[in-house]
Amino acid sequence: MPITAITGSASGIGAAVASAMRAAGHQVIGIDRSNAEVIADLSTPQGRDAAIAQVLELSDGVLDGLICCAGVGVTAPTCGLVLAVNYFGVSRLLDGLQGALARGQQAAALVIGSVAATHSGPNGQSMVDAMLAGDEDQAVALANSLGQSHVAYAASKLAISQYARGLALSWGKQGLRLNVVAPGAVATPLHQASLDDARFGQATRDFVAPLGRSGRPDEIAAMVAFLQSPHASFVHGSVVFVDGGSDAMLRASRF
Ligand code: NAI
Repeated sequence: MPITAITGSASGIGAAVASAMRAAGHQVIGIDRSNAEVIADLSTPQGRDAAIAQVLELSDGVLDGLICCAGVGVTAPTCGLVLAVNYFGVSRLLDGLQGALARGQQAAALVIGSVAATHSGPNGQSMVDAMLAGDEDQAVALANSLGQSHVAYAASKLAISQYARGLALSWGKQGLRLNVVAPGAVATPLHQASLDDARFGQATRDFVAPLGRSGRPDEIAAMVAFLQSPHASFVHGSVVFVDGGSDAMLRASRF
């Protein structure tokens, strides 16, 4: 039975992805802060390394899939935490589990990005640069001193999408596929927290996709399951928007 490790498996999109991958016949190793096979805090270097070690132990060092869903949104307690989880909690797992994927069968990895990556403006660029340089202390310090969590969130999603695409050449040469799914608004606890927030509630309500509704976690999971399957065997290094048309609405001429 193929084995797929999934971060953020306890809630929202990650939970739906775990169900979809189980339905596709995979053994799932869920990674989350609670209610998962591997309990780990991906916001710290120690937590990330512990997660990698436990996944390698549970999988005997051979993985067929890795799906990074864990993330925090604009209501996170600090801006630095947004970068720590959404960028470093993903890039470290991609690096640390690549060897296990290389030993797998038709292995593929996937990162949950966001349409927010396309809204990352000049205020977030120094953070993006620090993240891509691997300088967590500097990136976190920049995010905390700016103190704008929506800027940190967009920067974290832009940086991790660029990081993943930057791996396309080296991973492709090993026969490993790696893609990014960029959701629009999806009804999950993370999205509900934004709706309930005094600072972001109105803007979140105003951001309505052309299809006129938020997505469901299973609608994201269906694309993830496809991209992880042999049906997507030539899809690699792509950013796939699953957003009810939001990206087309905002950037019709850019693709
Ligand atoms: P969620 O809050 O329902 O699930 C996130 C999961 O990540 C939770 O189970 C949580 O415990 C886990 N997590 C958070 N911090 C962690 C840490 N330090 N260590 C280990 N696990 C941790 O949120 P949702 O919406 O399912 O988010 C999943 C991904 O989708 C995130 O990367 C988010 O940025 C992204 N996304 C969500 C959108 C939405 O509208 N819901 C839109 C675009 C992207």
